[in-house]
Amino acid sequence: MSGEHRVLLIISGGIAAYKALEAIRRLRERGVAVRAIMTRGAQEFVTPLAVGALTGEKVFTELFDREDEQDVGHVRLAREAALVVVAPATADIMAKMAGGHADDLATAVLLATRSPILVAPAMNPAMWAHPATQRNVAMLAEDGVRFIGPRRGEMAEAGEAGFGRMAEPLEIVAAALDLIAAPVAEGGGRLLASRHAVVTSGPTVEAVDPVRYLANRSSGKQGHAIAAALAAEGAAVTLVSGPVTISDPPGVRVVHVESARDMLAAVEEALPADVAVMAAAVADWRPAKASRGKIKKDGSGKVEPLQLVENPDILATIGRHRTLRPTLLIGFAAETSDLIRNARAKLKAKGADWILANDVSEGSGVMGGDDNTVSLISATGVEAWPRMTKVEVATRLAERIAEALAGQSEAAE
Ligand SMILES: Cc1cc2nc3c(=O)[nH]c(=O)nc-3n(C[C@H](O)[C@H](O)[C@H](O)COP(=O)(O)O)c2cc1C
Repeated sequence: MSGEHRVLLIISGGIAAYKALEAIRRLRERGVAVRAIMTRGAQEFVTPLAVGALTGEKVFTELFDREDEQDVGHVRLAREAALVVVAPATADIMAKMAGGHADDLATAVLLATRSPILVAPAMNPAMWAHPATQRNVAMLAEDGVRFIGPRRGEMAEAGEAGFGRMAEPLEIVAAALDLIAAPVAEGGGRLLASRHAVVTSGPTVEAVDPVRYLANRSSGKQGHAIAAALAAEGAAVTLVSGPVTISDPPGVRVVHVESARDMLAAVEEALPADVAVMAAAVADWRPAKASRGKIKKDGSGKVEPLQLVENPDILATIGRHRTLRPTLLIGFAAETSDLIRNARAKLKAKGADWILANDVSEGSGVMGGDDNTVSLISATGVEAWPRMTKVEVATRLAERIAEALAGQSEAAE
């Protein structure tokens, strides 16, 4: 291997297989040697000839190959990889991985390797959303497999949109390079192995009567992505979520709540933790009295004014907690004006370590959208992050959390 890093790329039989060619080129440009295994399905989409021309090496396709078993063989292929990347990963290969199958070269290598595994799923949105696929993904995440994507967007098949599009080749390459560079420690090199994280996400809803409530436009996408990113780095994550329409992230314990008071109780129950990220849009107020019966029109044209009372402040309550305050407490400040000044004030008032400030004014597209522009505000300054997807914000935040916790552990030794 002449000291260089070697990625073993497993291409399975999805329509996105053509994008694997681009990933190979990009990895090689960055000095990474790539060896490829193609499933039988993959060979229906791209040829071993094209893949081999780009890797500059023989492409491996068969488990029972006399020559290879004497020469390379599946165990050696598994052992010689610094990282195994499955891109595109079909629903089928993920099911086999989750079940521990080894009936072809790709799955045998995936079972035999001790190196980190990065999976880039690619499939039709219905296949991705299917409970069987989600179960397999959760199981693989628990086994330490890392995921990149899938992304939301137009699929290669006409007329299909939703989650299932493979991450772009350059994103896969960046994730692969990160994993190769990461020191492989206990927990398969995962940065947050043995840490406990609590994340809140989504809106809270506050009952007016049995059928009506006050709520807000939070989708939960950012909080859920953070929970998933922390879990992907090996943390045990409890996600306390208000009512959302998106699915529970894989590999995370989820507690579903409705009101701010329920959310606070669930967070306190989930603590202690090394880190808490309060990303939920908690309602500041609730109706002073939720009517037991449905409030009816009385025909007079008069409307009873809605009396509101303040909800508990979850971030401030946890920030002041003498025994339960996490080592690292992170809040979100959704503002429509004076972003940084308000976020700085919030940092102090709530006793948080960091505030992620985001502009949610009309036209920003943040509430409910897939992108976010945040600034990380701490006692030492303001860091403005460029606009990126909520998943990328989550990945970056997970890395920053890992650094901060590692720094604190060192300081304590
Ligand atoms: C035209 C066509 C496109 C396909 N695209 C996908 C895909 O994007 N994702 C997926 O999971 N399966 C896709 N499949 C189904 C897989 O090819 C099939 O499940 C196969 O058994 C996968 O084998 P493998 O995982 O061993 O490569 C597609 C099938 C066809 C015929």
